[in-house]
Amino acid sequence: LFIDASERSGHPMPQTLFGVFFEEINHAGAGGLWAELVSNRGFEAGGSNIPSNIDPWSIIGDESSIIVSTDRSSCFENNKVALRMEVLCNSEGTNTCPSGGVGIYNPGFWGMNIEQGKSYKVVFYVRSTEAIDISVSFTSSNGLQTLASTNIIASASDVSNWKKMEVLFEAKETNHNSRLQLTTTKKGVIWFDQVSAMPLDTYKGHGFRNDLFQMLADIKPQFVRFPGGCFVEGEWLRNAFRWKASIGPWEERPGHFGDVWKYWTDDGLGYFEFLQLAEDLGALPIWVFNNGISHNDQVDTSSVLPFVEEALDGLEFARGDSSSRWGAVRAAMGHPEPFDLRYVAIGNEDCWKKNYRGNYLKFYDAIKRAYPDIKIISNCDGSSRPLDHPADLYDFHVYTSANNLFSMSNQFDKTSRQGPKAFVSEYAVTGKDAGTGSLLAALAEAGFLIGLEKNSDIVQMASYAPLFVNTNDRRWNPDAIVFNSFQAYGTPSYWVQRFFRESSGATFLNATLHKDSSTSLVASAISWKNSAGQTYIRIKAVNFGNNSVNLQISVGGLDPDSVKLSGSTNTILTSANLMDENSFEEPKKVAPIQTLLEQADKKMSLLLLPHSFTSFDLLK
Ligand code: AHR
Repeated sequence: LFIDASERSGHPMPQTLFGVFFEEINHAGAGGLWAELVSNRGFEAGGSNIPSNIDPWSIIGDESSIIVSTDRSSCFENNKVALRMEVLCNSEGTNTCPSGGVGIYNPGFWGMNIEQGKSYKVVFYVRSTEAIDISVSFTSSNGLQTLASTNIIASASDVSNWKKMEVLFEAKETNHNSRLQLTTTKKGVIWFDQVSAMPLDTYKGHGFRNDLFQMLADIKPQFVRFPGGCFVEGEWLRNAFRWKASIGPWEERPGHFGDVWKYWTDDGLGYFEFLQLAEDLGALPIWVFNNGISHNDQVDTSSVLPFVEEALDGLEFARGDSSSRWGAVRAAMGHPEPFDLRYVAIGNEDCWKKNYRGNYLKFYDAIKRAYPDIKIISNCDGSSRPLDHPADLYDFHVYTSANNLFSMSNQFDKTSRQGPKAFVSEYAVTGKDAGTGSLLAALAEAGFLIGLEKNSDIVQMASYAPLFVNTNDRRWNPDAIVFNSFQAYGTPSYWVQRFFRESSGATFLNATLHKDSSTSLVASAISWKNSAGQTYIRIKAVNFGNNSVNLQISVGGLDPDSVKLSGSTNTILTSANLMDENSFEEPKKVAPIQTLLEQADKKMSLLLLPHSFTSFDLLK
């Protein structure tokens, strides 16, 4: 591999090159990154019907002691369903309540993670015809062990109208599979609505689960594409994600059933929180909105204007100053400064649908008129032929086998350099090569990404998909980050992304790889300056074959004409078996191992193990 490391060599790669695609799939947000512990906090999961679906809430007590139903008596206009609990037993007398009382409990998303010494805030709304004495507690999954508990006592006049109650707890013990209980031993009728339990300790208090946020921060994403994916489209338009229903006070958010990935979301992680997430990661938000098209129904172009207005309002919400109508709503939510929204995508994977072009142009014209600087992403792939409509970027999605993706390291070599740029907004090896996240898949992805770096004059952005999976609800395999209520690990595909975190904004160096045709090898070199101003050269090589390769490296054009041995490192991602995966038991079975380079010079001979991804960082 001959590398020209001179200042004038190569081309600068876009600052936006590598980012993340966050979709509400696999409980990535609800029951994942969004730290809310209660699932179905408004008892609304059945929609506005009565009786509603209160799942996963369950009842403590039998028919002789408690009757639970739902009605439409809530004080919240957008979600009228409330839970009605008629307590038939009492603390004394003929029908005595069981010890511990009767009531309801919520197990959260397959168990709440309650940790000793950590604080939790429980909020709920309550109404009753009588005085109340309610025990609020976190318990083990069978209710027998109490981790934190407090009593809420109020007079009848205090709760004759809906009243907000707030409790701050510190847990006495740890239990990763806990539940929240609301119980009483006092006869009467009590209504509950909008019950929330949040750990106090979330990223900057913004509601993001710390460990999952950190895993994102560690790959230094330059953008966050959100919130889908198919989640944006819906099977039916009535179930698509609509931003206006996801903002404002959490109690007023109606929530919705995401009918593609088949679960209810309370939409605590809404449009505002997505914008906040991007800002907290130091990344640019890329908002994908519904363009009047779902999987099964479409709005005609002649009637799409309300959707266009909705998108324009969404842009004003993100970017308008606080004197604008929607900017004021954002400011009231605690973010007076505009968010740095520069990119939007008109729909997801809709290019082939009848109304796409017509609808697209309505959005395009209206957005460009109001916000000429906003970059607009089309769903139509322009990598092999020019688009028939204007766009700044186009989506390119690829889910394929390992061999295919590895060979696609040349995918953009022949793409026209004129016209819109490519946004590889979803890529992954899927199917039997990938399992639930194999080394094989990761190696192919590494080869593909090196190809994207090489072509980063036309490829502006790339993100792996999907990003997260809650292991209790795998809707899609594989995914980059796997978690349950308290643990998380990266798949090999996640670790591959760590090798590219310095690439965005770096220089892609001119490098020539000489190899014989039987060698499955892709290699590249980049250079960048770290925050201390030191310049590094990173050589990356994927050996996709089953023989080791002796890579001769020759670095020319160095000024001063040398590399430093100290600080130069060697990082390898490999494993004993190609189909090896990580797990909660062995989270780093397939993870990069870094060592100091024993030999670092302008000319080096380095061994690449079979089926491995290796990087060499040379300090200039
Ligand atoms: O990443 C999973 C799904 O794959 C996305 O929702 C969709 O855009 C694609 O089909």
